[in-house]
Amino acid sequence: RITYVNGQYVPSRDAMVHVEDRGYQFADGVYEVCEVFHGALIDEPRHLERLARSLAELQIDAPLGQGALAIVLREIIARNKVANGYIYIQATRGVAPRDHAFPPKCVRPSLVVTARTVDPEKGEMTARKGVTVATMPDLRWKRVDIKTISLIANVLARQEAKERGAYEAWLIDSDGMVVEGAASNAWIIDRSGTIITRHIDHFVLRGITRTTLIDIIAAEGLKLEERRFSLDEAFSAQEAFITGATTLIMPVVGIDGRKIGAGAPGPLAQRLRAIFHDTAV
Ligand code: PDD
Repeated sequence: RITYVNGQYVPSRDAMVHVEDRGYQFADGVYEVCEVFHGALIDEPRHLERLARSLAELQIDAPLGQGALAIVLREIIARNKVANGYIYIQATRGVAPRDHAFPPKCVRPSLVVTARTVDPEKGEMTARKGVTVATMPDLRWKRVDIKTISLIANVLARQEAKERGAYEAWLIDSDGMVVEGAASNAWIIDRSGTIITRHIDHFVLRGITRTTLIDIIAAEGLKLEERRFSLDEAFSAQEAFITGATTLIMPVVGIDGRKIGAGAPGPLAQRLRAIFHDTAV
């Protein structure tokens, strides 16, 4: 396997970053995960746009221009012969002696790009059964709209979900409202067929899968509400699902051990999953 690291393509086992990289010491960096489907990046422009926004919010200079980065992504896909899988892009503020405040302007940001192959049939098998989620308080910071690599709260949430036998964590705010998953956006469909997901602000990530799905919902003439929804609403929903680059549209069949809808993947979630790749480009 080949990794891109700061201007070079190297065998992954030889790919190295300095121990004083600020990503390593402070989680001072941002990332993107983009799906590769039939050899092509899905929703690449939106991912690159969000990466640029995350960098700007943290005042990290773009390590590469968008055109050059797009070439690196293609090289990494080609050199790793990825037909289906993901690419991971990580940019940090760079290498400097440890000090919380920013290093001098001359310090160059670090950039790493890796690729991973997955069997798409595994995801399809999971989607045919549906997944369960476990809820817990949202312990993250107040700017999760920035896709930073500071993911410890997400890591602990996903681990707790796993220990409770669930696939994903649903993070709940102090008002009992569902915010999002540890690595996905959260959705429900109410008994009238209205699709509901939390509105965008600083407390939720603007998922690219979410954005593309909103386009699909509009094109299909379905009803969408972008607003907060409570855990109680989720318990009595007709259907539920999560979205993310690694899960796509994944039906949720249980929350905290309670069945959602019929306790099987909902028809609308399954239909949206089936047509997702027709719209995502
Ligand atoms: N996670 N919310 C959170 C907290 C996420 O980490 C993610 C993605 C999403 C969905 O965003 P998108 O549709 O752009 O993938 C929502 C990635 C996949 C990860 O951390 O691996």
